[in-house]
Amino acid sequence: MARFYITTPIYYVKDAPHVGHAYTTVNADALARWHRLVGDEVLFLTGTDEHGLKVARAAEEQGLTPLEWTNGMAPRFQDAWAALDISNDDFIRTTEERHRKAVQAMLGKIHDNGFIYAAPYEGFYCVGCERYYAEDELLDGGLCPDHGKPVELMSEENYFFRLSAFQDRLIDWYEQQPEAVLPASKRNEALSFIKGGLHDISITRTSISWGIEVPWDPKHVFYVWYDALINYLTAIGYGSDDPAEQQRFADWWPAVHHLIGKEIIRFHCVWWPAMCMAAGLEPPAHIQVHGWLLLGGAKMSNSSVDRITPSDLIDEYGVDPIRYHLLRDTPLGTDGEFSAEGIVARYNSDLANNLGNLLSRVATVVGSKCDGIGPAPETTSRLAGVATEVLAEASAAWNAGQPQQALEATWRLVRETNAELETVEPWKADPGPQVDAVLGSALEVLRIVAILIVPAMPGTAREIWRRIGLEGLPEDQRLPDSARWGGYPAGRPVEKAPPLFPRRKVQA
Ligand code: ME8
Ligand code: MG
Repeated sequence: MARFYITTPIYYVKDAPHVGHAYTTVNADALARWHRLVGDEVLFLTGTDEHGLKVARAAEEQGLTPLEWTNGMAPRFQDAWAALDISNDDFIRTTEERHRKAVQAMLGKIHDNGFIYAAPYEGFYCVGCERYYAEDELLDGGLCPDHGKPVELMSEENYFFRLSAFQDRLIDWYEQQPEAVLPASKRNEALSFIKGGLHDISITRTSISWGIEVPWDPKHVFYVWYDALINYLTAIGYGSDDPAEQQRFADWWPAVHHLIGKEIIRFHCVWWPAMCMAAGLEPPAHIQVHGWLLLGGAKMSNSSVDRITPSDLIDEYGVDPIRYHLLRDTPLGTDGEFSAEGIVARYNSDLANNLGNLLSRVATVVGSKCDGIGPAPETTSRLAGVATEVLAEASAAWNAGQPQQALEATWRLVRETNAELETVEPWKADPGPQVDAVLGSALEVLRIVAILIVPAMPGTAREIWRRIGLEGLPEDQRLPDSARWGGYPAGRPVEKAPPLFPRRKVQA
């Protein structure tokens, strides 16, 4: 049995979850659900990134301690994911004790291995901002770009990670594992950054205290990114004293699949593999980089659309239509536009007019021509061949981490079945073997489609399954066997019910 360990970035608890976060999380969820469907052992991890200055500031503005603030925010992410039917197996918070131990263990190991050293850090510090600025970030006259006031040249003792020592090893790794970072355009971007030369990086702070203490020098806390990346190890037992946890780590690492947005390539595709190497671990096996959802061309989290919350969308459109839109309209790897028009257009074409229509018309005609009892599929139906091709195409796409292509392939089966019904027009024919054959085959398509859409729309899959009279749950079926043509058992009651996806108009 194969293992599939998939992760999302852990999101900052500075703001509430928004649709950009939902994009990554829904895609990761669909991939996790696909791998469960083919019988893999799956571990799906998401969580929250709770340390650092940003979060400390957000708390302070509310008059709360950082921990009070994060204790209030983390459940908002958990609730959003529950509402979106996200099937994560674990939810990690970087303020948990298991994470503190893992961070201290890993960075302690890197320190022992000689890749961390102390050195003075000198830079232009704005006290108002409590941060350093690079010279080229300052306004003319050396003023802080935010406050317009003079900055101070400050220096503090810092610990540095010897990233520069890993340039050659990283280049070798990229060359030996050409598919580790995908798509290729992002791999090339990371590789050329590495080839351009790597500088050591400051990894600790003494100016803030909201972080994980440096074990060998507790005046310092680790810089938030160093703490955050390690979450991927914490969740599988790294740094634990418990032998069972240590075994879990050995079982799951390094065959991980990190799904990330393109703005955090440098951290994941340069720093992170180097940190793993420095700690004596294999680098992560797969890093899949996706683009941004844009609204009017602006990245969502940098404009007012970071106010679009998953729950607003669920209230307006329903869980599965939103999941479907996020998976179907923006392929993983390119940017996509997010708009109400786009959601409604996709909803009407694929869900209302195709899948929903297929289910309704089959249930209606089975009601009028077959006394509401589903007939057996026709063994020689042309649709059997389409189903076989679609299963192969959809499987290849899911296995390649491309939900958009997988769903596009799946919908061909839905469309061709609707076309077949329109050709045969069983609603006009007298009851008899020909009507039974076409309806039985359409029911068989619905059964197969219900299984194939489990990763995208688990609730809809169950509802179709139930309405066509099947027992058990679609997510408990195992592919490819369960998609073999002929599995629909004749003699089950088929329920006529209101449309799954009533047509919608675009709202103003
Ligand atoms: O970067 N389109 O957290 P973050 C698509 N804590 N995806 C988007 C998006 C958009 N408009 N906006 C956000 C952090 N995302 C760190 C990560 S990991 C060790 C630490 C998604 O809250 C996308 O996955 O800023 C992006 O990489 C992530 O949210 C950034 O979330
Ligand atoms: Mg961000």
